[in-house]
Amino acid sequence: MKTEILTLLRERSDYVSGQDLCQKFGVSRTAVWKVIGQLKEEGYEIESVPRKGYRLVQTPDILSESELVSRMDTVWAGRNVHYLTETDSTNQQAKRLAEDGAPHGTLVVADMQTAGKGRRGRSWQQKPGEAIAMSIILRPDFAPEYASMLTLAAADSVVKGIEKTTGMSPMIKWPNDVIVNRKKVCGILTEMGMNLEDGSIDYVVVGIGINVNQTEFPEEIRQIATSLRLEGGDGVQRSSLITEVMRAFERDYELLTERKCLSGILEEYNARLINKDAAVKVLDPKGEFTGTSLGINERGELLVKKEDGTVTEVYAGEVSVRGFYGYV
Ligand code: BTN
Repeated sequence: MKTEILTLLRERSDYVSGQDLCQKFGVSRTAVWKVIGQLKEEGYEIESVPRKGYRLVQTPDILSESELVSRMDTVWAGRNVHYLTETDSTNQQAKRLAEDGAPHGTLVVADMQTAGKGRRGRSWQQKPGEAIAMSIILRPDFAPEYASMLTLAAADSVVKGIEKTTGMSPMIKWPNDVIVNRKKVCGILTEMGMNLEDGSIDYVVVGIGINVNQTEFPEEIRQIATSLRLEGGDGVQRSSLITEVMRAFERDYELLTERKCLSGILEEYNARLINKDAAVKVLDPKGEFTGTSLGINERGELLVKKEDGTVTEVYAGEVSVRGFYGYV
């Protein structure tokens, strides 16, 4: 009932009478009053005025299942939410749930990860209250080679979510790092589970980590990492950002799966691509080279024009692309 009351208070900008709440949920005034008390204890500012009722005045940066469910207005993305105050890794948790049959769109969110995973075996750390760690379970009906495009779609969705909630204009460092003021605020790790009988996709887990409230970073990543707060995005509500990212991702995912390519988001992705039309260094284990980044193609490969005029399609895999003067 807590989630339902919160949803109702959020929908109405005006007072909701105690009587209305009692009738709607078929409970006593005391039961309603208790739930309002719980919400206040969690940090919600709720005004109670005799003969008028209750009004939600302000929501601080709270993460909880009720908070997320009461905000989510998507069709399938994040409609089934598993919230944990602490887990090893939301990707690991999502994979366990996916193996147990969790439906398409299930979202795992945690306030803290004890073994958060980054790309290439790196770790991804965050303290409670600092960041967003979330992983969405997808069950796409396409061949495994399309799965890497989901990561690019997710980066595009994160950018749109940040734009909407903060007014900032983040950029994307190909394939999927989200950058604000030339530093990384978000990393994405996509993992796949296969059906062994026929080699088809059983599930894909797209894990998204967004730095929100950190005020400092460990020495080794200080030069390349930042948070929304450090870049001036004060008072970001993580639940609101999560909802906006899910909204954007639902649309991007539909476009991607309908077309089996990124044509539906190509223009917006390239418009946000850092170093587009600028010099880049391609760190390919088979050989480093430099060129001009022309943007991505419909398969999500980065087109790089070499000095001799030839254009190479760079496939994400093991390759990194750097700007000429450092990380971006
Ligand atoms: C990167 O190295 O850039 C990718 C970082 C991905 C981190 C996120 S946080 C939520 C999800 N759970 C994990 O263990 N990792 C991803």
